[in-house]
Amino acid sequence: MQLSFAPMEGVTGAEYRRVHRRFFPEADRYYAPFLSPDAAGQIKRSHLRALSPEENKGLPLVPQILTNSAPSFLAAAKTLAELGYAEVDLNAGCPSGTVVSKHKGAGMLGDPAALDAFLDEVFSGTPVAVSVKTRLGLSSAAEFPALLAVYRRYPLAELIVHARDRKGMYQSAPDREAFALAMENAPWPVCYNGDLFSAEDLASLRREFPTLERVMLGRGAAADPALFRVLRGGDPLSREELRAFHDALLDETLAGGLPPLFAVARMKELWSYLICLFPDSARLYKALNRSRDLAAYRDAVSALFQGAAFDPSARFQGSRLP
Ligand SMILES: Cc1cc2nc3c(=O)[nH]c(=O)nc-3n(C[C@H](O)[C@H](O)[C@H](O)COP(=O)(O)O)c2cc1C
Repeated sequence: MQLSFAPMEGVTGAEYRRVHRRFFPEADRYYAPFLSPDAAGQIKRSHLRALSPEENKGLPLVPQILTNSAPSFLAAAKTLAELGYAEVDLNAGCPSGTVVSKHKGAGMLGDPAALDAFLDEVFSGTPVAVSVKTRLGLSSAAEFPALLAVYRRYPLAELIVHARDRKGMYQSAPDREAFALAMENAPWPVCYNGDLFSAEDLASLRREFPTLERVMLGRGAAADPALFRVLRGGDPLSREELRAFHDALLDETLAGGLPPLFAVARMKELWSYLICLFPDSARLYKALNRSRDLAAYRDAVSALFQGAAFDPSARFQGSRLP
């Protein structure tokens, strides 16, 4: 089964991907967090650097583009092709208000005719294979059949389905019944995404969809970086391994030139997922979140690793949180 690491803006940047790959090489591919090209298709320098071959050596990576302008998409895809990429992904799922109000991300799903015209132009001129990461609809999964009818007209490299509508953000229960529609007579590989946090979650999905060959994991993998290994039948994460992974990631983030306070903020974002591995650590986690500089942060991390119980079978709870 093909296992992909989902794009997570603010979490799975170049440093994270490199260190993750070094410690946990079991994911088949990584999708980079979205880049938004400007109207001319220019990509920000920081994004180009994060996608450069030197920053991603030996890493199977698919860049992702967020735009509703086909010329802008094509120009960005051309730049990415020149960097050596053979495939790019269209973001048709970002639920953020500012993105959706511009009819980008999940906002593209509200107008199937415009989406059709966009894909028609993209597939007439793309220099690389194009996959789409979609939600089920803008307001409801009832929109999904019409969206699928549009997607079916094009030779997608893959259709990744985050099985929620935009309104569900990251909370609503994934709609597997609607997802089943994508699997029926799919002319391209279909990848399931949404709330896979454990081997049991994956096993239950596979029982429901025995022919499914691709899944993508986001928050579950951020919460347990060894999850891909576990899904392949390997050992659970150990406390020592997590400590080494954390320290290497902090070092790599600082070496990348991020000012220490920004590096600490980025690590804290990751801790919002990792902390589920330390049940009953509220006090130590509070101290970690309160740390104001690098030295205090390092102390708080050491206190957590030394003082809190570690349970690798504790899972990110996602939408099942009350
Ligand atoms: C912090 C955060 C950042 C994300 N950034 C992106 C992104 O850049 N592009 C994208 O397509 N999806 C993005 N997503 C959505 C995830 O890729 C994924 O579709 C979603 O989290 C559901 O999968 P999961 O239940 O395995 O986490 C993001 C999600 C989170 C929580």
